Amino acid sequence: VDSEVKWEQYKKKDRNTIQVGYSQVGTESAWRLANTESIKSAAREAGISLHFEDADQQQERQIEAIRTFIKEEVDVIVLSPVVDSGWDEVLTEAREAGIPVLLSDRRIETEDDGLYLTYIGADFMEEGRRAMRWIAANVKPEHGPVRIMELQGTLGASPTAERKRGFEEQMAGNPGYRIAYSESGDFTYEGGRRIIEDYIENYPWDIDVIYAHNDDMALGAVNALEEHGIHAGSDVVIVSVDGTKDAFQAMIDGKLNCAVECNPLLGPQLMKAVQDLMEGKELPLRIITEEKVYDQTDAREVMKERRY
Ligand code: AHR
Repeated sequence: VDSEVKWEQYKKKDRNTIQVGYSQVGTESAWRLANTESIKSAAREAGISLHFEDADQQQERQIEAIRTFIKEEVDVIVLSPVVDSGWDEVLTEAREAGIPVLLSDRRIETEDDGLYLTYIGADFMEEGRRAMRWIAANVKPEHGPVRIMELQGTLGASPTAERKRGFEEQMAGNPGYRIAYSESGDFTYEGGRRIIEDYIENYPWDIDVIYAHNDDMALGAVNALEEHGIHAGSDVVIVSVDGTKDAFQAMIDGKLNCAVECNPLLGPQLMKAVQDLMEGKELPLRIITEEKVYDQTDAREVMKERRY
């Protein structure tokens, strides 16, 4: 795919303030709230007028929002897609209206890569690999394979599929570790709680490690485990993705063992990309955010300057 921005493809509007339509996934997690705040404040600082729509985790609402942005004739549409498929029709409408689309945080599956200009977000596959690397280094098989419970995010969302794939890829060929149970908790606190409740109702507790695709589900699981007298962080090791302040507090309290960072503060990079685009500059096809892995050894120190 040619990454060069073809201006003849887009209608440049004659006005002083850049108008951006942003379709957000929802408010499902602390990560998402920090992400929304970052986008809104970066738009304010850049003097960009933001048309912001929250879809409450529903794809139809995102499609509706994009159609509204097209009617409003915004300069750029930014989509953070709740799921990865089913976007071709509406993104073709945006292209036909001459409005460029950028993807933020999550990617889409399409045969036509020309439907969006760039994707700004984390490397979810690598996050999955990092989680499994930490487990392999810190939890050793004793009596048979380590039994892992996976709390998956929203089914059909790119972070869910990729965090799963990266984790499994890192685990492949290692007979000491096995995913014993895997369920979707939809990236929510309640979802994490419910998975633990269901498991305890149906099976004897036999899990060594919980791998949660985000902090909210991990913290919901911690809450449910403690209610059943299972000590999170010691009876069962818990690893999650995001690295929010609440996750750091849980590591300081000894209830979470590791947080693989996923940075939600995408606003400044995104607004810079929008401005570059409006100035006719070339955008890279992929903009990856820098991230780390934290555990109880550095949680207290890092918490002091944690911004989300
Ligand atoms: O797409 C990023 C994921 O979505 C975050 O890990 C999760 O917390 C959010 O809901």
